Amino acid sequence: MEGWVPVCATGELLPGEMRQVWDGGTPIVVVNLDGALYALEDRCSHEDYELSTGRVDPAEGSIECIVHGARFDVRDGRALCAPAYTPVTKFPVRVEDGRIWTRDDR
Ligand code: FES
Repeated sequence: MEGWVPVCATGELLPGEMRQVWDGGTPIVVVNLDGALYALEDRCSHEDYELSTGRVDPAEGSIECIVHGARFDVRDGRALCAPAYTPVTKFPVRVEDGRIWTRDDR
C-alpha cells in the first residue's frame, strides 16, 4: 500500500459517517454512503472550508458545507447547489487488510 494513507479499520466507519485524513498537505474526507466508500478533497470549492465539519445526507448522497450550505455529490464531487459551482476533487479508496485507504492521486 505504498503511497496510500490509512484511514481507519473498516468497522470504524459506519454508513452515514465520515472521517478526515491528510495525504501530505491535502485534506481528504472519506464517507461511507450505505456501505460504499468515497473520498473527496476536504475543501469546499466555494471558500475552502472543511466539508468534514458538515453533514452527510444519505438519501441524496450528498455532503453539505456547514458555512453557506453548498452541497456536493459524495460519489463524484460535483456541486449540487449554490453558492458552489465547481466540483471538489474525487480521490480513490481501497479496502485492504481490514483497513480503508485513500490517497491524493494527482
Ligand atoms: S465555504 Fe462552503 S458553501 Fe461557502
